[in-house]
Amino acid sequence: MNLKHQYHHKPVLVKESIENLITDQNGIYVDVTFGGGGHSYAILKKLNKKAILISLDQDKESIKKNFIKDKRFHLFHNNFIHIRNILNRSHIDKVSGILVDLGISSLQIDNPIRGFSNRFNCVLDMRMNQESFYSAQNVLNECSKQELFHIFYEYGEFKNAKKIAEKIFKKRSKKNILTTLDLIHIFFMKGSFKKRKKFLARLFQSIRIEVNNEINILKDFLLESSRILLPGGRIAVISYHSVEDRIIKYFFKRGIIVNKIHFKTLPFKMIHKKVIKPSFQEIVNNPRSRSARLRIAEKT
Ligand SMILES: C[S@@+](CC[C@H](N)C(=O)[O-])C[C@H]1O[C@@H](n2cnc3c(N)ncnc32)[C@H](O)[C@@H]1O
Repeated sequence: MNLKHQYHHKPVLVKESIENLITDQNGIYVDVTFGGGGHSYAILKKLNKKAILISLDQDKESIKKNFIKDKRFHLFHNNFIHIRNILNRSHIDKVSGILVDLGISSLQIDNPIRGFSNRFNCVLDMRMNQESFYSAQNVLNECSKQELFHIFYEYGEFKNAKKIAEKIFKKRSKKNILTTLDLIHIFFMKGSFKKRKKFLARLFQSIRIEVNNEINILKDFLLESSRILLPGGRIAVISYHSVEDRIIKYFFKRGIIVNKIHFKTLPFKMIHKKVIKPSFQEIVNNPRSRSARLRIAEKT
């Protein structure tokens, strides 16, 4: 392993997630959100020589920047929805642990041409997978008013989702919304800098969730996880907003995924009753960790 690498992305809740995840140091593990590789690196440090770690990310940039060289480590460019195929191709049926660190990495949000951040003026892209054909431009210029309302209401939890959708609709009837600045200019509003910052962050986040189909993929992946984990194996999920955290909590606690499935016997038992949050010190060192929520469950 190359120890000299400098992370661009500071991994969140590393100790709390890895210590709870590893139950067998000779086991097979998957990190389905490789990002800057911080969690993968920490997992490998805890595993024995014969163990295996399979990591993946749907972002090619993240794969290109990989710094881990280790015989036990295998990295794939793919969406975690395809985890079973990836394992099958490697002749693996079940695994001892799964780590999921949802959302985007600093590599993505700090890149001024990816369109994830309202700090830079650039093309409205927001695709995690650069090979996808659906970008933020498609969402903003092609979705119906009802679809836009759904995005802002469900993913952004905006009470005024209808008004937001109408403003976008009105603007695009005159001229296509192509850049981050085009979008920001629609929402010129009074009020404090803090309030505006919060509004834009949620607006961008809700569009990003739609572009990458994050909620549907998370739901399907949770179901897959119950199929690929060995009994006693664990899954650790870090999420960054309440929409995702609610889905994860509901599934681990009750075996329910709304509109999809209701297990008769619970596939998981929660390891901690309460959600794990970053310490004050971690938030000081890495303010981006402040909204992180970790839940760990064990396959029954
Ligand atoms: C918060 S970052 C992970 C950071 C990582 N744990 C680390 O230590 O650097 C989330 C990463 O997951 C990836 N990602 C999100 N959804 C994905 C999906 N459905 N399939 C594969 N990768 C995904 C993103 O591209 C991003 O690189």
